[in-house]
Amino acid sequence: MNTFSQLFREREKVWFLKLRSFLPVSPEGVLKIGNGFGHLSEMVRSQNQNTTVVDVAVFQETVNKDHVMLYDGGKLPFLDKSFDTTILNLTLHHIKDSREFFENEILRVTKKRVVLIEETYDNLFQKIHLVFRDWWMNSKAGQDCDIHWASYFSRSEMTRFIQDHGLRLVVRETIRHHSYFKELLVIDLP
Ligand SMILES: C[S@@+](CC[C@H](N)C(=O)[O-])C[C@H]1O[C@@H](n2cnc3c(N)ncnc32)[C@H](O)[C@@H]1O
Repeated sequence: MNTFSQLFREREKVWFLKLRSFLPVSPEGVLKIGNGFGHLSEMVRSQNQNTTVVDVAVFQETVNKDHVMLYDGGKLPFLDKSFDTTILNLTLHHIKDSREFFENEILRVTKKRVVLIEETYDNLFQKIHLVFRDWWMNSKAGQDCDIHWASYFSRSEMTRFIQDHGLRLVVRETIRHHSYFKELLVIDLP
């Protein structure tokens, strides 16, 4: 395991301990969109065996290659309301047209809850810093992910997005990370 994979595992363990109480009990299904090196996905699976993981790529360091379902990154290959809970960890901003994906795909396949870990910002300086660090960390780590400038959310936009879609914010934990933020959002569907 490379140093970045170890670092990500440690960070993902911290997120897992925060989000685990928001996961459903099997047989209710969990969808994890985005896998990275797979550490968080496997922690989630250890709690709920009925976990499905989708991604557009697997990496050399991915620990759970056999558990990842590849798809085209646009339309999730599932029927409406297939999963109780959907989780994205630092993945939404890697998805082209993230807002449309959230509206049309995440909310379509999810019955009850979205657990979102995202990097957010308040101003342009923070956004530039965040996008640069994201690109740099992923490149150094060997995670070749697309960067989409327009796919990042500011903190206020995230609040508006949740309100405008009639969603209910159950938990929002905001942690300052360098100049910008990492946030855990637990969002319930109506
Ligand atoms: C920087 S990694 C973060 C993953 C994180 N560590 C986790 O626990 O899932 C972002 C992941 O999003 C994936 N990704 C990019 N576009 C995607 C899409 N449209 N649907 C699903 N995953 C996508 C990338 O291939 C990569 O594995």
